[in-house]
Amino acid sequence: MKEIKINTESRNYPVLVGTDILNENNLNEFSNKEILLVIDSKIEESLKKEAQITLSNISSKYSELILEASEENKSSTTLSIIHDVLIEQSYSRDCILFALGGGIICDITGFAAATYLRGVDFVLIPSTLLSQVDASVGGKTAINHPKGKNMIGAFHQPSKVLTDTKLLKSLEKVQIREGLAEIIKHALIKDKTFFKWLEENIEDLLEANDEKLLEAISKSIEIKAEVVSKDETEQGIRKWLNFGHTFGHAIEVYGNYKRFSHGEAVAIGMLMATNLSHKILNLEKAEIDKIKCLIRSILTDELVKSEFQPIDLVKLMSADKKKKGDNLNFILLSSIGEAQISSDIQESDIIDSIKLT
Ligand SMILES: NC(=O)c1ccc[n+]([C@@H]2O[C@H](COP(=O)([O-])OP(=O)(O)OC[C@H]3O[C@@H](n4cnc5c(N)ncnc54)[C@H](O)[C@@H]3O)[C@@H](O)[C@H]2O)c1
Repeated sequence: MKEIKINTESRNYPVLVGTDILNENNLNEFSNKEILLVIDSKIEESLKKEAQITLSNISSKYSELILEASEENKSSTTLSIIHDVLIEQSYSRDCILFALGGGIICDITGFAAATYLRGVDFVLIPSTLLSQVDASVGGKTAINHPKGKNMIGAFHQPSKVLTDTKLLKSLEKVQIREGLAEIIKHALIKDKTFFKWLEENIEDLLEANDEKLLEAISKSIEIKAEVVSKDETEQGIRKWLNFGHTFGHAIEVYGNYKRFSHGEAVAIGMLMATNLSHKILNLEKAEIDKIKCLIRSILTDELVKSEFQPIDLVKLMSADKKKKGDNLNFILLSSIGEAQISSDIQESDIIDSIKLT
């Protein structure tokens, strides 16, 4: 088992990464606490049971909620369901919420913890590859508003994260690809050596090889930990983590949230951001070829052939930024492992970069 330390201005906490790590030894500091466990309904039955038994054994008071994870359910209604349990059962300020699930369950449980009695502690047990390398690190918590994703939220760091690869066994292939998109992103913005390692091991990772996944997850969390430790509230370099996401969010809307999953949209967005990096920062052709080859290897043939009306995508990007009160910035690469924020980019350059070739 590996322990990665996250040190932010508001809190320092460990992320434990390993296989079969959800046991009492790793939860000592929470014994005799009041615990509410929020569980994703798709967690494999025996693992659900294991978490239920372990947490009910160590707690002074225990309740659980099993929720269906969907973007529609990442709502104020579900938030109220969690708060209702806490209030009806008189949970105190000293209680602790546990989330066992993907990014949706982690985000909503984190936000419930951020808002109950002005903030209580929480622990994350992320259960998808994407939530293990991304959503569980850095303290962003949120719910959706009918007008937009993650519009209501708070920065609230967990007390601990338990990242157990055993949970990944029940994931579908597409979910492994989604997580790999974010892992590749971490390498591209910060670590050339890791990028090379990913090139060499991508086939094993696509097959969800345990040992390789463990290595990729740890490295990826280390990169995100370094970034969020320097910039907890996204005033500067934390924005690098949005590489591919300006295009990606627009691609998700373009496909009505049905044609492309988040990870697929981000992967395609990274191909476009790579084109733009060539135009604006002279990213070298040889590096572009390597980046595109690695990203294409995690996409299906059908996705690689996707076509977009560039002007429609640009309009969606501008609308998204306006809604969130941001400027239209792009994270671009000057080389593999070297990212920077670029603004004031000509619309014609953005349009030219909207192609997957
Ligand atoms: N807080 C952050 O920094 C951050 C970062 C990235 C993404 N997110 C958020 O995370 C969400 C996406 O996360 P996600 O990709 O984990 O999606 P998700 O939470 O929607 O999970 C995807 C699907 O997998 C199921 N699932 C979860 N664990 C499983 C398991 N072990 N086996 C089988 N099925 C399982 C879920 O029930 C769901 O149907 C989005 O809402 C996004 O906004 C947050």
